[in-house]
Amino acid sequence: MTLFAILTLFPEPLEAYASEGILRVAQEKGKVRIQCIDFRDFTRDRHRSVDDRPFGGGPGMLLRPEPIAEAVEWLEARHGRFRRIALCPGGRPFHQRMSEELVHEERILLLCGRYEGFDARLLEELAFEELSVGDYVLAGGEIAALAVTEAVARLLPGVLGDERSAAEDSFGASGDLDCPHYTRPRVWRGREVPSVLLSGDHAAIERWRRQTARARTARTRPDLPHTEVAAPGAPPKPHTSGPERPAG
Ligand SMILES: C[S@@+](CC[C@H](N)C(=O)[O-])C[C@H]1O[C@@H](n2cnc3c(N)ncnc32)[C@H](O)[C@@H]1O
Repeated sequence: MTLFAILTLFPEPLEAYASEGILRVAQEKGKVRIQCIDFRDFTRDRHRSVDDRPFGGGPGMLLRPEPIAEAVEWLEARHGRFRRIALCPGGRPFHQRMSEELVHEERILLLCGRYEGFDARLLEELAFEELSVGDYVLAGGEIAALAVTEAVARLLPGVLGDERSAAEDSFGASGDLDCPHYTRPRVWRGREVPSVLLSGDHAAIERWRRQTARARTARTRPDLPHTEVAAPGAPPKPHTSGPERPAG
């Protein structure tokens, strides 16, 4: 069971999203628990204010450190230490290998910013890791927190219907993107399903999937490292090609 605690000013939309699809399934199966906490509840002034103007001037408001720190301390007093992650556009880029690492954590705390972000002392004092979901700026960390939660939750054993799905997805064992997939009808608007997929020849289908996945990756994401995945029954033969993945 992985406990995700999401600190946010907008718990309702997060709870609504987490009550559908794979996150609902993961919770029903007892694989994850998702607790959304409004850090405004930890303010002590009568206006329940969470933000203030930045020292030195400039546009926008910043999140004050005290209510967030109190929320973290309250949570950890109840459950124990969490892996503390603050969602920040300037953080370490989040990717599939990090999901595979986070899947081993028992408790993950995801802190969602708003406005111009956090008082820098909060992140230092509580030793938050900063994580970014991409080189663009969202209005808040909620969508980023859901992206991390869902990417990790679907890797937990027993959450996906078929355990092979995650390994065969994009960025899976080979590091490649997924191959193209087709379902019925066999012909749609004059476009036919590749005949090899109808052949019943499983070895040929497997070869075709690897080749099209490799070609697609080389075309659209030549930066991704590739690992040769052994065919069933064959001895493993790892090697990498393409530029090294940047550190972090
Ligand atoms: C408008 S942004 C703050 C942007 C900040 N002033 C900057 O330029 O880095 C408000 C909040 O949205 C979240 N956020 C926005 N873009 C994000 C991204 N790409 N990855 C993770 N979190 C993001 C963060 O929690 C951030 O504190």
